[in-house]
Amino acid sequence: MSELIYLNGQLVPPEEAKISIFDHGFLYGYGLFETMRAYNGKIFLLKRHIKRLSDAAHVIGLGAKLGGANLTHACEETLAANKLKDARLRLTVTHGDADAFPWLERGCQPTVVITARPLVPPPPEKYEQGSRMFLATVRRCRQSLASGVKSTNYLTSVLARIEAVEHGCDEAVLLNDDGFVAEGSISNIFFVKSGRLMTPSLGSGVLPGITRALVMELAGEMGIVCTEGTVGVGIFGQCAEAFLTASTLEIMPLTAARDAAGKEIAIGDGQPGEITRQLMAAYKEQVAKETG
Ligand code: PDD
Repeated sequence: MSELIYLNGQLVPPEEAKISIFDHGFLYGYGLFETMRAYNGKIFLLKRHIKRLSDAAHVIGLGAKLGGANLTHACEETLAANKLKDARLRLTVTHGDADAFPWLERGCQPTVVITARPLVPPPPEKYEQGSRMFLATVRRCRQSLASGVKSTNYLTSVLARIEAVEHGCDEAVLLNDDGFVAEGSISNIFFVKSGRLMTPSLGSGVLPGITRALVMELAGEMGIVCTEGTVGVGIFGQCAEAFLTASTLEIMPLTAARDAAGKEIAIGDGQPGEITRQLMAAYKEQVAKETG
């Protein structure tokens, strides 16, 4: 069965899925995207993803362009057309194609692309034994509008992730320009210390992660105190546990860290912690409840 791509209202084979070289997403990174995970043919937390994209569209001046689009239905239609049960979906919207600067030509039609592909999850041992993170040298700019939206302007995340791969690590964690912990290149981060959860606040220059929000809700239901705040870099050596969250990762334990100077830091006892495991189980239960 050949893949079908959703492009501006049509489902087309990849060889026909072409956009203009004048598209403002391509030329200027003027666009947004959402990465979602489907289980058993259902897109998990789809409405939350569409709301985040819609809210961000209003922040960056794309709100009016997307008002009429039924992106929820388009995502479901694309998943069904590709006959996938467990999938990674990517919804990308840009300011559109105009032979003028974006600030001069505001009326162009947005470009909307949706792909649905088989999800390739990280190897099971990463969840069983934990993953390694690299403390990136690139920084999240705390006050940048781009830090709080999932824009196609993804250079900082890409460069951080390249650093991590070059240092043999699974994910990069970025500090913000004030030197406090922000988030991963494609994930949010949580720490466990004295039996309590903590995660960098949204003002730290992080994406308001859908998975981050669900984990905080699950923690609350489990009676685990979770605080958001300013997290110093010393946390890596002080915390008992740490984990990453993202739609494609779910909850990924962190058990080792290294920095650009090559300093290795064992997180906790070097094994996924008890609270992390409890939250992983609760997350799986929530997925089963909503998509089973
Ligand atoms: N990444 N922070 C950044 C910079 C991200 O790109 C993502 C998502 C997250 C986690 O957000 P959520 O829980 O809503 O998935 C945090 C996705 C998974 C990706 O593009 O791979």
